[in-house]
Amino acid sequence: QNNTTSISIQVDDNAPVISKHIYGHFAEHLGRSVYDGFYVGEDSEIPNTNGIRNDIVEALKGLKIPNLRWPGGCFADEYHWKDGVGPKAERPVIVNTHWGMVEEDNSFGTHEFLELCELLGAEPYLAGNVGSGTVEELNDWVEYCNYDGNTSMAQWRKANGQEEPWRVKYWGIGNESWGCGGNMTPEYFANLYRQYATYARNYPGIDIKRIASGADADNYRWTEVMMRDVPHGMMWGLSVHYYTRTGWPPSGSATKFDESDYFSIMKTCLKTSEILDNHIAIMDKYDPKKRVALVVDEWGSWYAVEEGTNPGFAYQQNSMRDAMIAGITLNMLHERADRIKMANLAQAVNVLQAVILTKDEKMLLTPTYHVMKMYTAHQDAKLLPLSFDSPEYNFNGESLPAISASASKDKEGLVHISLVNIDSKKENTIEIDCANLGIKDFTANIVASKHLQDHNTFDNPSTVKVEDFKDFKFKKNKLTITIPPFSVVMLEGK
Ligand code: AHR
Repeated sequence: QNNTTSISIQVDDNAPVISKHIYGHFAEHLGRSVYDGFYVGEDSEIPNTNGIRNDIVEALKGLKIPNLRWPGGCFADEYHWKDGVGPKAERPVIVNTHWGMVEEDNSFGTHEFLELCELLGAEPYLAGNVGSGTVEELNDWVEYCNYDGNTSMAQWRKANGQEEPWRVKYWGIGNESWGCGGNMTPEYFANLYRQYATYARNYPGIDIKRIASGADADNYRWTEVMMRDVPHGMMWGLSVHYYTRTGWPPSGSATKFDESDYFSIMKTCLKTSEILDNHIAIMDKYDPKKRVALVVDEWGSWYAVEEGTNPGFAYQQNSMRDAMIAGITLNMLHERADRIKMANLAQAVNVLQAVILTKDEKMLLTPTYHVMKMYTAHQDAKLLPLSFDSPEYNFNGESLPAISASASKDKEGLVHISLVNIDSKKENTIEIDCANLGIKDFTANIVASKHLQDHNTFDNPSTVKVEDFKDFKFKKNKLTITIPPFSVVMLEGK
């Protein structure tokens, strides 16, 4: 049975802007993300620019990536940036102890990463090493990247081919410092953060934004101690990581799952709102003016690795189920845009909930890519708050809200409404009163497919794609739209 749900849209001058930085991505030295992903080397037959794959850059431009986080993740806390600059033949080989014990020749370092960011038109977000690094090392890295002068660091950068400083704005200080980043207590880390943040200096022309390693999921104590013990002026952002996964180690196949697995993953994903709200409530207590941003710099699905791939490489396929995760998570982030100023999907290429998968010279765009591409319309647009009672998605005596929605108005006055129906069987009809929006007409796109498990493969890369969607009416300022089961719709009103 298909009941109609009414959504009311408010136009609120005080509503926040959805920062484009909520659409950030993540590239860690993990599995095939960097090597055999973004970076194939200058000698590769795959078309590249100084070793960076051209087809990946072109595809990612379609997502208007605002920032890219690097080099980790857990890898960041064992990365010594000086290993990755200067003549490649002289760069030391290290072992990536977190991810598969593979050898890392450091051929992709600071210069290569910053060139990648330039090609993408993305701001770099560098994650500094606190776990096994030193204050001096971080201080030197910031100076190397950002100082325009004659110091030894600036001269070294110039000798390595970069005359002008890059003026990198976003700097992470530590990563998962409660775990892989050093197994610290929050009290200890809060002090260490103060020390490291002090020496991550501002140089003329750039005030950097320091982002503190934050909590895992529901570790609220971490947020409490950081907000209590770190002066807020020292911390542009405090991070939080939340993955949609069932247990640890992550289990379940990315493509072979049944409805019960689907339901439980949707439930875990929807829990994001509770996790975020609880962290935000703690931040509000210490920082009611919302000066410190919540930075969700790792989110996404995490399943068992694809059969036959290296267990340390976190390679997984990406299905319609992941399209649901992308759509509802982004809607949840928008809703909290007054506090959440940045987020990063984990990860961009060949790792976890990737938007791009590669195999030799082949490349495919995942369902998550297609959802994120439709959603670029929300970047830097003003949030239009919504209120509605979602219909239920029922399964085995449990229920979840079936509909997730978000709306915004951009600088050109275009209104975008993103709607997700996670119900595996039922379509849902939605009515939206648009009287206060001054819209003459709508167009719409959809990401949908026949089966929940549908995904794109290297042989069939277009099973899931963005298509035009016409199943809606707009009459007398009332929009009526019927959303198919497990689909994501983006409406544009002008
Ligand atoms: O994204 C994969 C890993 O997940 C990151 O390295 C780490 O920060 C998190 O545990």
